[in-house]
This record gives sequence, structure tokens and C-alpha cells, in this order.
Amino acid sequence: MIDAENKKICIVGMGYVGLTLAVVMAECDFDVIGVEINPETVARLRGGKAHFYELGLQSRMARQLKRGKLKFETPEEAVGARECKVFVLTVGTPLNDEGNPRMDMVERASNYVADVMPDGSLTVLRSTVRLGTTRKVVKPILESSGKKFQLAYCPERTVEGRALEELRSLPQIVGGLTDDDAWRASRIFQRLTPTTIRVSTLETAEIIKLLDNSFRDLFFAFGNEVALLAEAAGLDGIEVIHAANTGYERTNIARPGMVGGPCLEKDPHILAHSFRDFGFTPRLISNGRALNEELPGIVSQMILDWAGENSLPPDVKVSICGLAFKGRPETDDLRGTPTQLVIDAVRRDFPSARLFGQDFAVKDTDARTLGVEPASIEAAFDGASVVVIANNHLGYSRINYEDLSSTMNKPALIFDCWDCISADSHDFSEGVTYLRFGSVKAWSGR
Ligand SMILES: NC(=O)c1ccc[n+]([C@@H]2O[C@H](COP(=O)([O-])OP(=O)(O)OC[C@H]3O[C@@H](n4cnc5c(N)ncnc54)[C@H](O)[C@@H]3O)[C@@H](O)[C@H]2O)c1
Repeated sequence: MIDAENKKICIVGMGYVGLTLAVVMAECDFDVIGVEINPETVARLRGGKAHFYELGLQSRMARQLKRGKLKFETPEEAVGARECKVFVLTVGTPLNDEGNPRMDMVERASNYVADVMPDGSLTVLRSTVRLGTTRKVVKPILESSGKKFQLAYCPERTVEGRALEELRSLPQIVGGLTDDDAWRASRIFQRLTPTTIRVSTLETAEIIKLLDNSFRDLFFAFGNEVALLAEAAGLDGIEVIHAANTGYERTNIARPGMVGGPCLEKDPHILAHSFRDFGFTPRLISNGRALNEELPGIVSQMILDWAGENSLPPDVKVSICGLAFKGRPETDDLRGTPTQLVIDAVRRDFPSARLFGQDFAVKDTDARTLGVEPASIEAAFDGASVVVIANNHLGYSRINYEDLSSTMNKPALIFDCWDCISADSHDFSEGVTYLRFGSVKAWSGR
């Protein structure tokens, strides 16, 4: 049984985080109102169509709409929201042009909640925020309403592409303004997941989220560092990493590759920014992020060096495969994709290049926003002098490269950013060079 005071939940911001949470909460028998500021998105959602790809989302969302457990509205409508006693904020927190975390969306959503919430309601902040935001930004706004309220911070820690599954399995971190507030938030999340972890302060919960993503970013940065230092010593970094990891649990080095996406590109910066107030500068985390930010430039330079050595013509055809910021788990999310930087670098050196983009999940209209013409995998290879495999989608490990590379314009390069292709098991066509990031070895087609 869900307590009556927690039964109706209003989730503010129907993006990747808000919509997936809304569906799972509806499945757990809460009555959910999804509030979204973009009226086009609201219209689309009301029509039963999700506005991004996430495994299982479309059908599961439609089912909850039909059951009447999930409804959508704009902040101006505020019909269902006024009946709720629990509010979850899932609005975006991107960096601004100066690289500082934007707070305006959290402020606006908090003002909205302050307006519609009844006395005795609970507000849960779920966006990834600068340390102290729940207490210093959200709390004063809610206080200004003069109403009684409870407040908690419960970070979203799912991975895009597996969000619906992970919302039901990952431990949920809960920090409350008071113990009672944390208990109430815990009771809600206990309906979703077997484990809730109550921590002693709002800030503890906030920093855990920032550390999760900073840790992951640093983990990838270490793999990239190994690749670069192996290359400097004339060693094969991929071989080093495979051999070091094999059967030896104490070493787990990430595969090298470009790192991006809406979270990793900003969260280590939000963490560093948070500590300015404390006069502390994180060293490891900031350096790891800087290294990952250098990677697309390093990869692009390797491709352009090969193009220069092989005197490619100005109107060369270049295809980028894997446009989304990652391939595994599959997503259509282009936010923070490092692929954009590779496309921009090729365009800079080859302004007349014919640039094509292929992706197994991204829609053609979205691909065009990166400045490439969408193509199937066959069309991407056909007549191309350079094909870049830019993300680690499983599809790139299952392709017959012998056939595809035979349609390329020779001399040709296949550049594999993520070690997706097992080169030893493929015969590339004559005139084709295969290079992969992290390896000094070059394979030539026969
Ligand atoms: N994408 C992820 O997988 C992920 C994972 C963990 C944490 N996060 C964090 O969660 C937060 C949300 O991320 P996201 O990817 O869902 O962002 P998003 O930009 O996809 O979604 C935010 C949504 O909120 C809407 N919105 C903004 N202001 C609003 C307002 N005042 N009222 C109603 N709607 C409003 C926007 O139009 C947008 O649809 C961010 O802080 C992010 O860092 C994201």
C-alpha cells in the first residue's frame, strides 16, 4: 500500500530522467503527472509517443497512459500538479558558455513547485547539481511560499539505454533536510527498488552523484592515458590493456576511446566548480576530464595525418559511423557527442569534403544537426576514402568488413576509435588501411 500522502506524484521535466522515472513510478502504482515546459513535447507524450529512444520506453509509456496512471501537462495548465503532494525535479543542469553549471532551470522549477504545492508536501531534487544546491537554492525558494514542506535529494544514477531496468534494481541514495524528510523519500523509492541508502545530509547525497560520474570519467581517462603512453613508447596499448586485465582482477583498465555524453562532459566540472567555495581544487578528476577532452583532437589528428600522407582530394568522401555519444547500451542521444569534434576537424581541413554519418539508433533529421548527410552502413562505405567508427555500438563488431571495404575509394582508411573490429579475423580489401586508437599497429588489406 502506498501512503495516501505519497500516492500522487508530480515530476517536473520530461527529459531522459523525468520520463523514464515517470513510467516506472506509474508501473509501481503511483498516480503520476509529468510536467514539461515544452508544449510540443507534452502534445507528443499525450499522443503516446516518447520523444527519445530508450529501450522499452515507448510501449511501457503507452501502457501507463492507457491505464490512466500517467498524465502530462504544461506548468501553465497545473491541473493535476495541484492535486499532488510529492514533487520530483528532473530539469536539466547543463554548463553555461563560461563552463559553469546553470541553475536557472532548477530555480524556475522550484518556483513552480512553491506555487502549486500544498502544505505538507515533499520535494525531491533529482537533477545533478552543484554541491549545496538543494539547501541553498531550492530550500529558500520553497520557504518563500510560506507553506510547510519537506525536502530531499535523491540522485538519478541510471545509465542511458538501461534506465527502466536500473530504476528497479539500483540502490537509491536518499539525503533529507531532516530524518523525517529522508524517511518519506525512502518510503517512496522503496516501491521501486530493493535498496535505499539513507545518508546523513543533503550534501552527502549530492556529492555521491558527482563522484559517481567523476569516477567513471577518470576510469576512462586512465585507459586513454595508457593508450597514449604505450604509443609514446612504440607499444601496442590495446595489447597492453588486454594482457594486463586478463585473469588478474586487481587490474581493470578501460578500453581507450573518446568519452562524452551529457553527464560525463559536465559532472566533473560541476564537482570542481562546487569546491571553489571551499578553496579546494580537485587534481585527479580535473586532469582526467582534461585528458578526455583532448581525445577527439588527438583522434582527428591521426585521421588527418593519414589523409595528408595519402594526398586525399579536397572533395574526399568521409563517413562517420556511430554518431551518438556511446554505442553501448544503445542510445540516440547526441548531447555531448565527441563525434561532433571529429566532424568539425575534418570539415576544417577539408572544407569541400562530402561528409556522411551513419548510426543504428539516431534519426536522420537528428544526424543532420551534426553537419553530416545520413547514410546506411553500405552507403557510408561506398566510395568513401575514410570511414571512422566513432562509438562502440555492437553492430560494428558484426559487420562483414571484407565486403564493405571493397566498395571504398582506394587508398582508403578505416579508423576504429573503440577497438570494435577484430582486425585479425577480417580481410580488408586491397588498398585499405585499418587503424585503431590505442594501437600502433596498422593492418593493410590484401
Ligand atoms: N540523461 C541521463 O541519463 C542522466 C542520468 C543521471 C542524471 N542526469 C541529470 O538529470 C538532470 C536531467 O537530465 P536529462 O538528461 O533528463 O535532461 P533533459 O534536458 O533531457 O530534460 C530536462 C527536461 O526538463 C524540461 N524543463 C526545463 N525546465 C522546466 C520547467 N521549469 N518545468 C518543466 N519542465 C522543464 C526540459 O524542457 C526538458 O524536457 C540533469 O541534471 C542531468 O545531469 C541525467
